[in-house]
Amino acid sequence: MTPERLRAAFESRFGVPPDRLVRAPGRVNLIGEHTDTSDGFVLPMAIDREVRVALSPREDATVRLVALDLDDEDTFDATAPHRKNGWASYPHGVAWALAEEGHALRGFDAVFTGDVPRGAGLSSSAALELALARAFAEAGDLPWDPKAMAVLCRRAENAWVGVASGIMDQLIGACGEEGRALRIDCRDLSTEAVPIPDGTRVVILDTGTRRGLVGSAYNERRAQVDAAARGLGVAVLRDATMDLLRDRGEALDPTVYRRARHVVSENARVHEAADAMRRSDAATLGRLMSASHVSLRDDFEVSGPALDTMVQIARAAPGCHGARMTGAGFAGCCVALVAEDAVDAFVTEVDARYCSATGHESALYPVRASAGAGPLTG
Ligand code: GLA
Repeated sequence: MTPERLRAAFESRFGVPPDRLVRAPGRVNLIGEHTDTSDGFVLPMAIDREVRVALSPREDATVRLVALDLDDEDTFDATAPHRKNGWASYPHGVAWALAEEGHALRGFDAVFTGDVPRGAGLSSSAALELALARAFAEAGDLPWDPKAMAVLCRRAENAWVGVASGIMDQLIGACGEEGRALRIDCRDLSTEAVPIPDGTRVVILDTGTRRGLVGSAYNERRAQVDAAARGLGVAVLRDATMDLLRDRGEALDPTVYRRARHVVSENARVHEAADAMRRSDAATLGRLMSASHVSLRDDFEVSGPALDTMVQIARAAPGCHGARMTGAGFAGCCVALVAEDAVDAFVTEVDARYCSATGHESALYPVRASAGAGPLTG
């Protein structure tokens, strides 16, 4: 929705134009999957699909929030958030986390909309959390430290919404940079901006499937990764190497061993991928992305039939350097690195072949790396 239409939607609901507009992006992870929860390395980029909020601060602590896309609304006292189901758990959780951090909250009236597909592996939840945190910051004149806000939104997700996720989604949503991906060290939260290889585009391949409740599978993987670290005698798998895995891996349960092998090899692939991007080496980056998919499919077992079919078709299509599932997995989106001059042919061919192979309606679109949460201009 354009800023103009968002302003108009606010005015038609609240009778006056909004005071200001804010935004927060979704993300696609290029490589480094299921590594953030063990202090590892990830390489996502914020994308040009985002949550947009039009708001006006209020004198009291009341938050009136209209979800335009869902035709739903919620009103609550920011100083007394309560547990809710569905989308409303996010504003309440963010208010709770901000107050926990000692911020004095002021209420606001707002409408919001977004074009990050939900449940597709592109972090629509983190985008919503950060857009709301930004709205609270604007309304209450709170300092905006992107990393601190990412940590706070993650706390809302973990402790309020109840998903034991890592820091990747919120960190890239807060700190993303235009035109670049970020290699993030999930232990000290340091970031390094790395360019997308010259002459290539990052293409999202939405399989048209959506995950159901994956919270339990996600938390089960986390428990296995923790068990692997204990078995290997390290604090977290970030501290394990392939050599250590070879030396002590026999003591691990075979499933736990494969989970560990994914995480340890994936961390190594992130370093290689960042190196490749620094020298604009699309072929190497693509090869690493494809290797990541195999590891997620066979060792971590978080892929699914639609994701596997999409990756297989994409890899054989014109101009494709590499492809993999992205995000938590099981369903949703894949990501491919494609030669810029072949993008149109790639999209047409993959779309047709995927639809006839699976009967699912896919959506394929190139994305650009965009900036983290902030004011929306225009
Ligand atoms: C979800 C979580 C992230 C990360 C990915 C898998 O997106 O929110 O923290 O663990 O899955 O890489």
